[in-house]
Amino acid sequence: MSGQKNRAVNVAIFASGAGSNAQKIIDVFRNDDLIKIKLIISNNAEAGVLSIAANEKIPSLLIKKKRFYEEDAYLPELKEQQIDFIVLAGFLLKVPSILINRYPNKIVNIHPALLPKYGGKGMYGSKVHEAVIAAKEKESGISIHYVDEIYDHGNIIFQARCTVDENENPATLAQKIHLLEHKHYPEVIARLLKATNNS
Ligand code: GRF
Repeated sequence: MSGQKNRAVNVAIFASGAGSNAQKIIDVFRNDDLIKIKLIISNNAEAGVLSIAANEKIPSLLIKKKRFYEEDAYLPELKEQQIDFIVLAGFLLKVPSILINRYPNKIVNIHPALLPKYGGKGMYGSKVHEAVIAAKEKESGISIHYVDEIYDHGNIIFQARCTVDENENPATLAQKIHLLEHKHYPEVIARLLKATNNS
């Protein structure tokens, strides 16, 4: 990236929860010469994603809110690992401007609904699916988008849809959404990064 075509694009994954998307992304790029998952970052000491990082022997970093927002947003650590691109995969904190400015159009997020509907502050996890079902939507899906300074707001890169059936509940809808996420998130990341790497 940015003229550095001799080495792989180094990716940091930011996640706050179980990390099933992170695991899928790690699996897909495990033997990829062009894309390396270099660092896992979490704000939650209990997050499953930190065990995934340990199992996979990928360095991880537990961040503190204060330093993330009031100081350097961990830029030195990102620089030290030569991170080129950031993937949010269930990361619940707002990304600070300092990071957005340092990584313009190089931070992506996945949201478990069809944005611009059902996004924004407080819309995460099961709450999203509950809202979709309560509104009697006939379909939901996933949105992969660039990250800007507003929650779930940056330009949409990709969406995929699924039906919301008559007897759907938040758990069954979450399962459908996770399948879509695991299928498409790695593909979209590969498309974005390989295009940039070759340009
Ligand atoms: C996913 O549904 C993602 O869309 C949302 O948080 C969830 C993370 O799931 N932003 P996991 O931790 O990757 O299993």
